[in-house]
Amino acid sequence: MKKSLITGVTGQDGYYLSKYLLSKGHKVYGVKRRNSLINATARIDSLLQNKFFIILQGDMSDPFFLNDVICKYKVDYIFNLAAMSHVKTSFDIPEYTTDVNALGTLRILEAIRINNLKKTRFYQASSSEIFGNSSKKFQNEKTEIAPASPYAASKAYAYWITKIYRESYGIFASNGILFNHESPYRGETFVTRKIVRAAVQIIQNKQKNLILGNLDAKRDWGHADDYCRAMHKIINYKTPDDFVISSGNTMSVRQFTKIVFQKLGIELLFKFKGYKEIGYINKVKKELNHLSKNQIVIKVNKKYFRPTDVNYLKGDFTKANKLLKWKPTISLNKLIDEMIDSELNHYE
Ligand code: NAP
Ligand code: GDD
Repeated sequence: MKKSLITGVTGQDGYYLSKYLLSKGHKVYGVKRRNSLINATARIDSLLQNKFFIILQGDMSDPFFLNDVICKYKVDYIFNLAAMSHVKTSFDIPEYTTDVNALGTLRILEAIRINNLKKTRFYQASSSEIFGNSSKKFQNEKTEIAPASPYAASKAYAYWITKIYRESYGIFASNGILFNHESPYRGETFVTRKIVRAAVQIIQNKQKNLILGNLDAKRDWGHADDYCRAMHKIINYKTPDDFVISSGNTMSVRQFTKIVFQKLGIELLFKFKGYKEIGYINKVKKELNHLSKNQIVIKVNKKYFRPTDVNYLKGDFTKANKLLKWKPTISLNKLIDEMIDSELNHYE
């Protein structure tokens, strides 16, 4: 039986990856940090009955804990998914972000090295954010690394240290450079989930409007389920390497918002620019009689802007497709439908 250790097991990807590895017959050790609320395991509650799913309490900021578990369980695979993963928040808590995301990665690699674990393979959750504001039409494994936030800088460090440990010590250590991936399990403060959640509340007359930040930012959005399958392929590839995982498409936050509202029966139009921009109803289906033409449902507020933002991301996953035979299987359209359905069911 293969043994895997997942840090960040309570997160969006932690859920999809645990489910996938358990379905493949792995024994999964998941690291969960201490929380004051019992519902911190909400995403993975459905998996907790599985006797091969074992939760360990620990924290990325504690090198003794990391060394101890890595030495004790001598797993075949370590997936390092734990992170302070919110880009805007990283401007407020830059040192903590660096400690968890950058030094946390180093602590794991050091534990593998010190314990001389030749058979342990390591996967690092790298991010398209490391490319910053690239001038390239598509970003791939050869694109310059130019982080534009404390989060991205911490992930750039983790990316490089993973490569360095691979090249210096022969550790099987790979980076999955993943572009944005979403699902019904996405955290509520990331833009896709925030939009879907608010749109559903607006049609249910529980919320008046949705306040957003930079509507011009473009992202390459895929489904977390597809991307967690790619993690498994990356760590099982014959040699350690770095791979871009993306959908190959891009869309602005404004366009994404329009699609979500359209699917719920509201045609939106936008006017004005910058902080003054608004989105208002052009057409609405008659069942939604609490809403009317020209009603403003989208507003923009400065507080959701970052000091610097990444304006455009579009990934080229040719290498993953060629070497790993990986490609996305769930379209953005299906992803949005799934997110909407889940939100509707949740509120019902
Ligand atoms: P997420 O939902 O925010 O999950 C992050 C996980 O890390 C949670 O389990 C969180 O625990 C845990 N964590 C945070 N600080 C920790 C600490 N000090 N010690 C131990 N655990 C800690 O993120 P995700 O979307 O699943 O992403 C997974 C990884 O991929 C992250 O490293 C992220 O930066 C990276 N990534 C994500 C995307 C994306 O689009 N989703 C794209 C590229 C890269 P709590 O549940 O207690 O908060
Ligand atoms: N969160 C948020 N909230 N973002 C907003 C809002 C808002 O109200 N309004 C506009 N945006 C814009 C952001 O400025 C950004 O340009 C874009 O929407 C996407 O924001 P997020 O959903 O927060 O994701 P992200 O791209 O910053 O980061 C995510 O993807 C990275 C991979 O590229 C995270 O999952 C990172 O952990 C991940 O590495």
